[in-house]
Amino acid sequence: MGPGDAELLTLKAMRVLRAAPVVAYPAPLKGSGLARQIVESVLSDGLYRIEIAMRMRFNLDRTSAQTAYDRGAAAIATHLAAGRDVAVLCEGDPLFFGSFAYILARLGDRFPVEIVPGVNSIAACSAVLQQPFALLNDRVVIIPASRPAAEIEDALVKAESTAILKVGRHWDKVVRVLDRLDLRRQAWHIERASQTGQQVRSLATVEATVERSSTYFSMILVYRRGERWLR
Ligand SMILES: C[S@@+](CC[C@H](N)C(=O)[O-])C[C@H]1O[C@@H](n2cnc3c(N)ncnc32)[C@H](O)[C@@H]1O
Repeated sequence: MGPGDAELLTLKAMRVLRAAPVVAYPAPLKGSGLARQIVESVLSDGLYRIEIAMRMRFNLDRTSAQTAYDRGAAAIATHLAAGRDVAVLCEGDPLFFGSFAYILARLGDRFPVEIVPGVNSIAACSAVLQQPFALLNDRVVIIPASRPAAEIEDALVKAESTAILKVGRHWDKVVRVLDRLDLRRQAWHIERASQTGQQVRSLATVEATVERSSTYFSMILVYRRGERWLR
C-alpha cells in the first residue's frame, strides 16, 4: 500500500483493491492499523466488502502475531475456497519486511497468489530527503536498529549508505554509535515519511545525551558517499 500517502498506491494496487470482495489486513488489538488507514479513501466508495482484521499485539513476543496470521490465513482460505478473491493489505512493499510474507507462507502453495509490489519506506524517505540512497557502485546496507550496536557500527563503516529501520526504543543506542564514528552530520532521522506528521531532522542538531525513543515508523539514513559521483 506504499508508505502512507494514498497517492503512492500503484494503479495496480488500486485496481486489485477495488475489485476484491474481501480485504484482509494486520491490525492492533484496537483500531484499524496503518495499512487499512492508507486505503481508507479507496475503500470509501460505498461498495460492501467483507473485512478481516488480523488483530495482534505488536511486540517482540511473536506468539500473538503468529496466532493472528494462523487465524487470518484460515479465514482468507475459506473465502478463496468459495471463489471470492481476497486483497491482503500491507504497508510499504509486501515482501520488504512486509507482514504479507506470513500469509504467503501459509497459503502460497494452496491458492494462486498475485503480489503487487509497492513503494517501500526507503524510497519514501530518500524522496523526502532528496538524497540518492544508491549510485553507481555504492555499497548499501539495510539494518534494523534492534541489531547489536557492534553490527550497526560494522554496517556503517562498510557502506556508502545505510538505512537503519525500526528505530523506536533503540534510538539512544544508534545515536551513540553515530557519535563513536563521528557520523551525526551525515545522518538524518525521518519519521512517518509521506504521512500526516512527517518529520525530518538532521542528527547533527539532536541532543545526543538525552535518553529517548522514536516512533516505530521511522528510520535513520546515513550517507558516507558525500558528493562523490554527483559532479
Ligand atoms: C515492518 S517494517 C515495514 C517495511 C515496509 N514493508 C516497507 O516496504 O517499507 C517497518 C519499518 O519500516 C520503516 N518505515 C515504514 N514506513 C515508514 C515511513 N512511512 N516512514 C519512515 N519509516 C517507515 C520503519 O523503519 C519501520 O520501523
